[in-house]
Amino acid sequence: MSRYAHIIGWGHAVPDQVLTNDDLAQRVDTSDEWIRTRTGIRERRIAAPGEYTSTLATRAATEALRMAGVHPREVDLIVVATNTPDYIFPATAALVQDALGAGRAGAFDLQAACTGFVYALTIAADMIKAGGIDTALVIGAETLSRIVDWEDRNTCVLFGDAAGAFVLQAADEPGGVLTSVLHADGSGAELLMLPTCGTRNPVSHKALDQRMQYMKMNGREVFRFATRVMNSATREVVEKAGLTLDDIAWIAPHQANRRIIEAAAKALKRPMDDFLLNLDRYGNTSTASIPLAIYEAAQAGRIQPGQYGVLVAFGAGLIWGATLVQWTGPRPVAKPPRVRWHRRLAQVGSWLRRARRHLEGRLVRGG
Ligand code: UT7
Repeated sequence: MSRYAHIIGWGHAVPDQVLTNDDLAQRVDTSDEWIRTRTGIRERRIAAPGEYTSTLATRAATEALRMAGVHPREVDLIVVATNTPDYIFPATAALVQDALGAGRAGAFDLQAACTGFVYALTIAADMIKAGGIDTALVIGAETLSRIVDWEDRNTCVLFGDAAGAFVLQAADEPGGVLTSVLHADGSGAELLMLPTCGTRNPVSHKALDQRMQYMKMNGREVFRFATRVMNSATREVVEKAGLTLDDIAWIAPHQANRRIIEAAAKALKRPMDDFLLNLDRYGNTSTASIPLAIYEAAQAGRIQPGQYGVLVAFGAGLIWGATLVQWTGPRPVAKPPRVRWHRRLAQVGSWLRRARRHLEGRLVRGG
């Protein structure tokens, strides 16, 4: 019997602080008019001190698990797609695993730039379908405000902070994450990158003086690439699923620029109403943009069980891809009271493990 990977819960997290286009015009040479007409963005959210990619991811995951009625200890795998991990290592997914008290879960980060959520969803769903795991948390989370150059008007107006999460679970009935297409062309690596903080250009005074710790982008070239692949990847995944574009009820595009989405709509001969959009309020939140757009649409009743939808993304790498889903809707919440108790216990277990590691460390150091 075939196994399917259903999306049974979804959650989100956005920081409270809103940064408007007018706020930005006080910092760099730009205007609300330029940003709105060239990108469609009106405002974005900015993480507060003490708010990190892992904390946004944990909040989104907690909401998704609650909606799914899944206890953290039932989760087999946590994948965090991000470009802005808390650290190069350990994985942000491990920090989320600990914060959730998901004691049985394996955890890893996935780096496929803004296409990360599509890649992560594909991998987790395929592991469920293969029978290796039953339940997965797939999260896209970013604090891009920490890596944009607030003196560079070409980039700082575009990005924002957010997280979105899906709970995937195995089921026998057809539906859920059906199929994907994944692509890459590393010859375009220099079009969008963070030059330092990795091992090729380690952090140094010289690198910092050249502001290499901030994102660099050739906007025009990325724009050209994006308009091409949004169309081709959507068509390819629909064909791979054995469907036609007429079967697709909605498209959740990576939210980078409204003009890119308008070009895709034109090429696909679909009205803009078919696209789930929220970049006017959040800007480009990279891996979080697709789950956040789907979260809002699902909460508003805009997407319905049984409908086919396409998630399509592009970004640095260059990497792009698309996933076709048949929307499921949340399962009934099974056991809320037990969940609370188990969660508390899991948290106590996590504190005890941390205290033990701390004491062992002191003994080893002779402290
Ligand atoms: O997740 C993927 C990440 N990246 C993307 O998806 C980015 C894709 N690219 C884009 O969205 C667009 O290329 C941008 C929004 C980045 C730029 O829009 P554009 O229409 O391609 O503008 P441009 O780069 O051709 O620049 C036109 C002018 C330039 O001035 P000059 O040289 O014509 O005098 C820029 O310096 O606009 C200027 N400009 C700005 N002016 C006011 C660039 N940024 C700004 C700004 N405010 N923020």
